[in-house]
Amino acid sequence: MKGVVLAGGTGSRLFPLTKITNKHLLPIYDRPMIYYPIQTLVDAGIRDILIVTGGRNSGDFLRLLGNGKHFGLAHINYTYQEGEGGIADALALAEHFADGQKICVVLGDNIIERDIRAAADQFRKQPLGAHILLKQVHDAERFGVAEVAEGRVLGIEEKPPAPKSNFAVTGIYMYDATVFEKIKTLVPSGRGELEITDVNNAYIREGTMTFSFLDGWWTDAGTFESLLRAANLVAHSLGRDPDPRPILEDSRGEAARA
Ligand code: DAU
Repeated sequence: MKGVVLAGGTGSRLFPLTKITNKHLLPIYDRPMIYYPIQTLVDAGIRDILIVTGGRNSGDFLRLLGNGKHFGLAHINYTYQEGEGGIADALALAEHFADGQKICVVLGDNIIERDIRAAADQFRKQPLGAHILLKQVHDAERFGVAEVAEGRVLGIEEKPPAPKSNFAVTGIYMYDATVFEKIKTLVPSGRGELEITDVNNAYIREGTMTFSFLDGWWTDAGTFESLLRAANLVAHSLGRDPDPRPILEDSRGEAARA
């Protein structure tokens, strides 16, 4: 299985931090944001990785990451997204790279505590279809939200004002090679983007979507609140958090102070 990190978009929710640099180059505690999704793929045993970047600062990714020596890689692939047509638009650029193989996609602003190796190994054995990782959250209306019954995902709604569950769809997706044909059938959503939720719903309609729950904490880092939260969670994991109180997951999966 190959890996794709999506690091395009303008990061407009983080203006003015993103006025002169790409969101995924901002720090999360002691490392640039982009390091975390790359590490997620490497920890899942993936060595062949494509970074999709965009905007005016895309050259900085090459200067920062080079050939991936920091991650024990021999090579990193790069491609460039014109504009910000959405997550599925960015993923479409990976078709040539995927070359018919399965892919694991991680959004460039998604940071996890543990690893996804078990889910990746499971998907390597899945003959076809897709796999998503869900996480219980208290603010589901910020995310894609999955309706689940009898061990199956019935559908996903993108940022619903009244979520049907508190199961957020995390930004970690595993797809077979048909993902690119599915993307070609999409039309832009109300916010003018090709939505990854529409891709996932195509797999659900086809009956080939599986899911699992992500272990440990998970956060995005695309807003001021979540950027700060991500830094605090990482610092805590490293034992360098000046606040001695433990961070616990509550019954809704939310990381909170004891
Ligand atoms: O974090 C998980 C959530 O990510 C999911 O629950 C949602 O279903 C999914 O739509 C997405 O929601 P966001 O609105 O938070 O996505 P955002 O626009 O912040 O984009 C997330 C990452 O995707 C971003 O860090 C870089 C990449 N991206 C995004 C866009 C719009 C691109 O590479 N190109 C793009 O054009």
